Amino acid sequence: MTKEAQRVVRTDGGTDGEAEREALLGKLTLREKVRLLTGATTWRTRAEPALGLREMVLSDGPAGVRGESWDERDPALLLPSASALGALWDERLVERLGGLLAAEARRKGVDVVLAPTLNLHRTPLGGRHFECYSEDPELTGRTGAALVRGIQAGQVAAAAKHYVANDSETDRLTVDVRVSERVLREVYLAPFEAAVAAGVRVVMAGYNGVGGTTMTASPLLEDPLKREWGFEGVVVSDWGAVRGCEETARAALDLVMPGPDGPWGEDLVRAVEAGRVPARAVDDKVRRLLRLAAACGALGEPPSGESPGGEPPSGESPGGESPRGEPPKREPPAVERDGARALLREAVSASTVLLENRGILPFDPARLRTVAVIGAHAALPRGQGGGSAGVFPERIVTPLDGLGDALGDGVRVVHVPGPSTDAPPPPLTPRLCTDPVTGEEGVRLRVRDAAGRALYSGHRHGGRQLEPPLPAGAHTVEIEALLLPDVSGPWTLGVGGFGRLCLTVDEHIVMEGEFGKDSDDPAVVHVNPPVHGVSVPLTAGRAARVVARRELAPGTGRATVVTAAAPRPDDASALAAAVRAARDADAVIVFVGTTEHDESEGRDRTDLRLGGRQDELVRALTDADPRAVVVVNSGGPVELPWRARAGAVLLSWFPGQEGGTGLADVLLGRAEPGGRLPTTWPAALADAPVTRTRPEDGHLDYTEGLHVGHRAWARHDRAPAYWFGHGLGYTTWSYEEVEVPAGLVAGEPFTVRVGVRNTGPRRGREVVQVYLSGLPGDPDRPERRLAGFAAVRAEPGERVTASVRIPSRALRHWDEAEHAWRTRPGPYRVFAGRSAGALPLTAVAHVGGPG
Ligand code: BGC
Repeated sequence: MTKEAQRVVRTDGGTDGEAEREALLGKLTLREKVRLLTGATTWRTRAEPALGLREMVLSDGPAGVRGESWDERDPALLLPSASALGALWDERLVERLGGLLAAEARRKGVDVVLAPTLNLHRTPLGGRHFECYSEDPELTGRTGAALVRGIQAGQVAAAAKHYVANDSETDRLTVDVRVSERVLREVYLAPFEAAVAAGVRVVMAGYNGVGGTTMTASPLLEDPLKREWGFEGVVVSDWGAVRGCEETARAALDLVMPGPDGPWGEDLVRAVEAGRVPARAVDDKVRRLLRLAAACGALGEPPSGESPGGEPPSGESPGGESPRGEPPKREPPAVERDGARALLREAVSASTVLLENRGILPFDPARLRTVAVIGAHAALPRGQGGGSAGVFPERIVTPLDGLGDALGDGVRVVHVPGPSTDAPPPPLTPRLCTDPVTGEEGVRLRVRDAAGRALYSGHRHGGRQLEPPLPAGAHTVEIEALLLPDVSGPWTLGVGGFGRLCLTVDEHIVMEGEFGKDSDDPAVVHVNPPVHGVSVPLTAGRAARVVARRELAPGTGRATVVTAAAPRPDDASALAAAVRAARDADAVIVFVGTTEHDESEGRDRTDLRLGGRQDELVRALTDADPRAVVVVNSGGPVELPWRARAGAVLLSWFPGQEGGTGLADVLLGRAEPGGRLPTTWPAALADAPVTRTRPEDGHLDYTEGLHVGHRAWARHDRAPAYWFGHGLGYTTWSYEEVEVPAGLVAGEPFTVRVGVRNTGPRRGREVVQVYLSGLPGDPDRPERRLAGFAAVRAEPGERVTASVRIPSRALRHWDEAEHAWRTRPGPYRVFAGRSAGALPLTAVAHVGGPG
């Protein structure tokens, strides 16, 4: 390292480092600059040792920090899904969770966490609904900004994604969204504006296009992002989203990911030399990259002790993958020291939404002798959604385990899985199989050359291998396991991936074929490829040698998966067993939920029904015992046709690793279910006001304009099942008084005071919500928009006042003719209450000039 570089060790990204960084920039040739603007690997940026610039590591995000490789031996803390964080309505708690992500990033040598996802729940069918916070721009913006603050409190950067209008998955690589300027500003850009105001250091440009231009070349990167909002950080492309050179280089995109190859490189050097891309555009990109590096401690020597993203541990190559396929050596998550598990548990109860309660919850543990826990999701819950957000969690506490532990030995917990959920067969798990080489639980992963020689052989935990080490000459990925069936009968075995696949059981070929790609979406190709199943008779206790092979061919992606599903009892007897268990119990808790098929990146949903015969199961159980409590394990809306018949309905989202402990806290009354819906839930898909996700001729028109989510429901002829903001908690509240300041001034924030009383039996927390009407004469403006919220706590009988701060943006609208924000003077109606559908208090606020 040069002396010059050492001098900038302590730059902090503030303006005082700018001069030093400008000097560094001046030392680089054009080629050296351009080199920095494409990643070094899938997850790393390039180093420039002469400047003291090390590689920076970027990692998904947002449910945890996976690190540089998809390796189950390198686990992460798993947070509740973003939709659950949207249900918190608690920025402080979100900020603390952001702090947990930052700690995980430091532990894993990650500089940039690819979170938060700030797209909106425009339709309930969005495949990545679970990864986004809300249907509402204000709630999304406040939640996202809190996560950004939490992640960035240390030398870690957050990345707000996917800029912008990437709200559904169908044809996401090519879709062109048509949306008006006003709607973009007021709805879809608003959360990004909030993230920029919170100081976010990276923004990710989406795959999609808006108004005819793909986002990586979009003028929206320049304005409003960089010019009007003053964003000083780096705009990174979504992975593989840059398909051309000059157009994207001239736009305000700064960094192409992944690397090492990409469309910029030498083509960009030539384009600059020929004057087709201005040299200052390249300088600006490098300047931003250096600024980010300074903020992440990547410019100059890393601070002693920790080495975030610094030199890889010995034996590991840059890129995080060891040539020997060993996992990076690092400390496990500091679950005790950081109170991580306790915080995650708190987040579970605080985000769980009590949708219905007919006096059943909380349970009184003293009255319980036998508890029937019904449903597959009780023992195999979904802790997270599918796709690039996925991590290998350090543990998963199932609801069955969480409840069992909380209830203790004195209570009998009976679990009956019930009928099919239509879940795809799970990847091989250590519980079922052993590695034939070592005898340990798990599988053997091999990479062979064309002649069949093993170039790599290593132990792995399970049958889902997304990033095997690929030495030169790699030709076939092979996963071998001794499968020990626990039941006799027809098992469904499967192998997933693209290209030439073969599955043998005890040396017999049971499945073989060539499987072409049906999608170019990276989330499908590299993360969740289709699995091809075959039925194979197996005998309990007799080990079967299962070998799956996938030939590596260009373009066939990284993933190889082996799945195994045990034969199931027929649905009628499974249903009957569940009903019997319910009849014999003092309390019945039914778990239902979505599957990997339903909610995953790379595709949208086609319906909102619970898979398999889960609705039938709930009906049978609520018939057997009307006090039955239903727990819904989904990241986004599902139809609950039996909701009026259940004793209580809880929504646990994808609750992350501590789902079972947090849920037990709620069921047994140790914690209140604190969540409030961040999105309106329709009773049936057919009722939902916005459902279109499929582009026509490549275009997706946001014809609903400003009327998204509760704003659309407010003028809809059907009522939803549950309104935005709804959530019962364990006490009741009366809304007594609302007070609005006399004269309001356009452009200035104000405070609405709402007096509420806890009218129920126990201490509780209430999220007081304030909505504002539009002005007459503005037909486009929604009838009500969320303007602000504040949480209060009160003892039984106590009256408290919520001071709800309303930012000035709540009154403004985007004037398309003038391309500017305006606030119309005049009277606005103010509504206060506990959801967009329950607003008992109203007042009028008069706004004076300036307009
Ligand atoms: C996703 C991003 C993600 C990236 C890297 C993309 O397919 O859209 O959200 O950060 O992959 O995994």
